[in-house]
Amino acid sequence: MTLLEVKNLEVTYPGGVAAVRGVDLSLTAGQKVGVAGESGCGKSTLALALLRLLPPGTRVTGEILLNGEDVLTMRWGRVRAVRWAGASIVFQGAMHSLNPVHRIGDQIAEPVLLHQGATAAQARKRTGELLEQAGLPASRATAYPHELSGGQRQRVMIAMALACAPQLIIADEPTTALDVMIQAQILNLLERLVTDQDLGLIMISHDLAVLADICDRLVVMYAGRIIEEGPAQEVYENALHPYAKALSASFSHIGDPTSRFAPRGLPGDPPDPSELPSGCAFHPRCGEAVDVCLTEDQVLRGAGRGRRAACVHVPVPAVSTGTATEGTQEPATPAPDTRSAP
Ligand SMILES: Nc1ncnc2c1ncn2[C@@H]1O[C@H](COP(=O)(O)OP(=O)(O)OP(=O)(O)O)[C@@H](O)[C@H]1O
Ligand SMILES: [Mg+2]
Repeated sequence: MTLLEVKNLEVTYPGGVAAVRGVDLSLTAGQKVGVAGESGCGKSTLALALLRLLPPGTRVTGEILLNGEDVLTMRWGRVRAVRWAGASIVFQGAMHSLNPVHRIGDQIAEPVLLHQGATAAQARKRTGELLEQAGLPASRATAYPHELSGGQRQRVMIAMALACAPQLIIADEPTTALDVMIQAQILNLLERLVTDQDLGLIMISHDLAVLADICDRLVVMYAGRIIEEGPAQEVYENALHPYAKALSASFSHIGDPTSRFAPRGLPGDPPDPSELPSGCAFHPRCGEAVDVCLTEDQVLRGAGRGRRAACVHVPVPAVSTGTATEGTQEPATPAPDTRSAP
């Protein structure tokens, strides 16, 4: 069953900053989707848009269907309910998201009281259960955020995100500020809870290797666009788009000594979203760019086996029968064969 369907989402911040451009994304119940890409490519903007958390003055168009209901056209009362019971977000810096003057137990209990109509005793019991699920003793409910370590605070954020039993968790770089050991613990915890409770997960990270490990599908963004998507391990191990290839090559692959000793970085930086280059936004950094890349923007095209990529070089699979299967949708325009171009 489709849990989330994003259609042609465009987000433009004031001043013409085109942070998300024409994003289509869909997630079934219980599915885990990773979103990767360099800094500034629009990952957080996409996450915030999903729950209408963008600052005033931001232009958002398209559709965000959560269980078939469009988040973008909901009344605010409904949006507030959906933010806890439909989908909830775990942000990067737990210290900034937790209120420093309130005990963590009260902060976890608040949405349970407000959105689930629980009594004070029920909310206290639920808070204890949530803390224990997140690997903290229930007795820590009386602690203030500053009395906890960074990893413990992030566990509190996870407990809070699960408070109203949402169907979808959006985790935006949930472990970036933590040390490597704690990162692994928190990611394992999140992965286990999501799997046990059969929740959908959108996990945002720079780290393609981590996403490939945790997620079913992987989406790679560049300059506000999804430029590649497909089964997580396949995208990680055998990316099709030159940007996704470069991103993947910058992480060491287990069993591949060449990538360990000579990770291929990508020169330059992503473009400023208020001054995007013509054609494919990646062409100024792309070693495989041909003439058409300078003038024609590329949209995602089916590449077979549930994969899609937005590059002229991606071969379109032959469709042997009249019926298209998932992931082999015909491209909007046929891919010109430019491989022999000078
Ligand atoms: N409130 C805002 N007003 C104007 N521009 C913004 C705003 N927030 C983000 N941007 C711009 O939108 C673009 C996308 O930002 P976003 O935070 O979504 O990137 P990101 O992929 O999450 O990056 P990171 O990996 O660093 O978190 C960036 O160019 C950023 O400067
Ligand atoms: Mg971000």
